[in-house]
Amino acid sequence: MKILAIESSCDETAAAVVEDGKTVLSSVIATQIDEHKLYGGVVPEIASRRHCENITGVVAEAIEKAGISLSDIDAVAVTNAPGLIGALLVGVNYAKGLALSLGKPLIAVHHIKGHIAANYITHKELYPPYLCLVASGGHSHIVKVNSYTELETVGKTTDDAAGEAFDKAARAMGFPYPGGVHIDKAAKLGDSTKYKLPKPATKNEFDFSFSGLKTAVMNLINNSRQKGEEVDMNSVAACFQETITDILSDKFIAAANALGYKKIALAGGVAANSALRTKIADKAKENGMDFYVPELSLCGDNAAMIGCQAYYEYQAGNVADMSLNAYATKKLHML
Ligand code: KG4
Ligand code: ZN
Repeated sequence: MKILAIESSCDETAAAVVEDGKTVLSSVIATQIDEHKLYGGVVPEIASRRHCENITGVVAEAIEKAGISLSDIDAVAVTNAPGLIGALLVGVNYAKGLALSLGKPLIAVHHIKGHIAANYITHKELYPPYLCLVASGGHSHIVKVNSYTELETVGKTTDDAAGEAFDKAARAMGFPYPGGVHIDKAAKLGDSTKYKLPKPATKNEFDFSFSGLKTAVMNLINNSRQKGEEVDMNSVAACFQETITDILSDKFIAAANALGYKKIALAGGVAANSALRTKIADKAKENGMDFYVPELSLCGDNAAMIGCQAYYEYQAGNVADMSLNAYATKKLHML
């Protein structure tokens, strides 16, 4: 079954053709990052406009690169939640029009489920149940993956998402948006023991809180500057990364142990972080757990992961109709 998938929830216009949920025939991503960089973050109105301009070309390129024609497609899939509403609507309406004109089924995909499904592309042998940590620019969730389509959240951030904390801390350090990857690089040159940063507490043991950590980084930089002291930015990056990856990996492994999981996975843009990948891999090994993480190219937003999840939604009978809408927020366990 060949699915044409479309993703436009944030600042990447993406389309992919995925066969039977695991084989990526093509994956095209038109990123808008250079434009949003000028403003230090994603400007929703600009994102929507660029999606409108890019979507036809991106879909055509995905079809061409897959070596097929539109009539060979068996279904059209699209991310319909969560995300920037104006951005999501571009993909949803395009997918509806395409499905209607081709007379093919339309499949709606939750963005977070898509991130998790990226693991099935990289690890063909992975199947539920397992516990997944999803860390992206908008989410930090610990999720029970009960089946390919039934998911349950056991913990989440109570303030900033992990990626958001990376990006805001990076901005204070003087790095361009999105800053996560710059912190990752700078941290390799710094001393992760030089500055002391807090690990904010949460009421629910598997929830996260990152806003105090982000503020501590800002205060550290501002206070040092006011005193005329030189700030070793590589070490600030190293200390921040050490702290946030400790929090993420410690809570995730504790949740896996408490809930009795021996199979765990990581997903989302922050899954590209080298320290996080290594820490969770090491802790999984210590605890006798099998650990899965997508290849780097599938961690950030892409449409291949949407095409993968769509296959399982279709198998479960989750097909949308022309009343499909987009939602800025949507709980994971809701269809
Ligand atoms: O999943 P994603 O592409 O978009 C959302 O759904 O939000 O995640 C983007 C986030 C950004 O905050 C970005 O800074 C972060 O992922 N990110 C990283 C790294 N690469 C991307 N954070 C830390 N280290 C990285 N290497
Ligand atoms: Zn994402």
